[in-house]
Amino acid sequence: MRKDVRILLVGEPRVGKTSLIMSLVSEEFPDEVPLRAEEITIPADVTPERVPTHIVDYSEAEQSDEQLYQEISKVGMDLVSLFLQFSLILCHWIPLINERTDKDSRCVASCQVLGDLGSLEVVCSAKNLKNISELFYYAQKAVLHPTGPLYSPEEKE
Ligand code: GTP
Ligand code: MG
Repeated sequence: MRKDVRILLVGEPRVGKTSLIMSLVSEEFPDEVPLRAEEITIPADVTPERVPTHIVDYSEAEQSDEQLYQEISKVGMDLVSLFLQFSLILCHWIPLINERTDKDSRCVASCQVLGDLGSLEVVCSAKNLKNISELFYYAQKAVLHPTGPLYSPEEKE
């Protein structure tokens, strides 16, 4: 059994990472958010998989590249990158993450979440409070029960 799950939200500025975390916590859309949310821990007994889950925000405006790389290596296998601008994820974020995680864990979780999200009726919105807990549930599930990468840059070569 895993001890806990660590989820890091990465993505372009202003795509709504912090709002998503705040909406999850307060169950309402926050009109104003800080650049970066404090790390939160969801206790085991309120998560579907019964594993404590840490959610970590990232903000380009507040953090250096070096700090981002440190966060990426901290989450390691648990890394789940989300976000909304799909082509940017494939071209920018996935290579950046892959360079900083060991080979076996590359992007499995992140791609799986994207795949699962694709099957949600409407992709999640902090504003409408739509699919927010589902999003984090899929992220948690992807880490706990990896089924293999849906997208592998190596296979494309
Ligand atoms: P950085 O910290 O700068 O990287 O941005 P971020 O990704 O944390 O985005 P943030 O949560 O600060 O949201 C950026 C803007 O988008 C804010 O004005 C939010 O109110 C707005 N926003 C966030 N989520 C939604 C949403 O689901 N719908 C709409 N309409 N606006 C949103
Ligand atoms: Mg933010």
